[in-house]
Amino acid sequence: MSLLDALKWRYAVKRMNGNKIPEATLNTILEATKLAPSSFGLTPYNIIVIEDEETRKKLQPHFYNQPQVGESSALVIFATWNSITEKEVAEYMQEIAEERGVPVESLKDFAGYINGSIKNLSPEQLQIWAAKQTYIALGFTLVAAASEEIDATPMEGFIPDAVDEALGLKELGLHSAVAVTLGYRDAANDYLSGAKKVRRATEKLIIKK
Ligand SMILES: Cc1cc2nc3c(=O)[nH]c(=O)nc-3n(C[C@H](O)[C@H](O)[C@H](O)COP(=O)(O)O)c2cc1C
Repeated sequence: MSLLDALKWRYAVKRMNGNKIPEATLNTILEATKLAPSSFGLTPYNIIVIEDEETRKKLQPHFYNQPQVGESSALVIFATWNSITEKEVAEYMQEIAEERGVPVESLKDFAGYINGSIKNLSPEQLQIWAAKQTYIALGFTLVAAASEEIDATPMEGFIPDAVDEALGLKELGLHSAVAVTLGYRDAANDYLSGAKKVRRATEKLIIKK
C-alpha cells in the first residue's frame, strides 16, 4: 500500500478482535515512534507498552470502558516527565556526546540554551510543553501502524490520574498524556468500519499564500 492509501485505510477503530500483533511488527511501530522528533531532541516523555490482557482489562474502566482497550493487542501510553531540570538536560548532553563521539564540553552552549528555555517555564507550562511532544510521537505511531496495516486508536478519553495510579507512574516521575491502542479491527462489530472518511475540503483546510 502507498502511504496515502494506508492513511485512507486507517481509522480510529472502536472495536478490535483481540488478535496479537507479531512482536517484530510491534517493534517496527515502536522504533518508528522512537524516531519522532521533539523540541531540542530532549524527548521529555516515556512510552509505556502494555501487552498483558489482564492489565489492559484492569485499565479499561479508566478509559471510560472503551472496548478497544481490552480488545487490542497492545495499549501504548505516552507519559510526560514530571520533572525537567538541568539534570535531565545533562543526561541528554551525555547521550549526544556518546552517540556522536564529541566531548560533552562542546555541548555547553546547547545545554545552556535548553536550560535557559526551560527555566522560563512554570511547572504547568513545562507539562504542557512536554505533552505537546508526545502528540508528535503519537502521530508517528499512527502513521507507522497504518503503513504496517495495523489498526490503531488514538485516545485522550481516559482519566490520567487513575491510569497513573494503576500503573504506578507517579513513582516513576511520569504523568500519562495520551494513549493509543494497537491491534486488528473487528469490522463486523465496529459501526465505523467502512464509513467514509470526513476531512475538511482541501481548499478550506489548506491556505496557500
Ligand atoms: C488526540 C486524539 C484523541 C482521541 N481520543 C479518542 C478516544 O478517546 N476514543 C476514540 O474512540 N477516538 C479518539 N480519537 C479519534 C478521533 O475521534 C478520530 O481520529 C477522528 O474522528 C478522525 O477520524 P479517523 O481517525 O477515523 O480518520 C482521538 C483522536 C486524537 C487525535
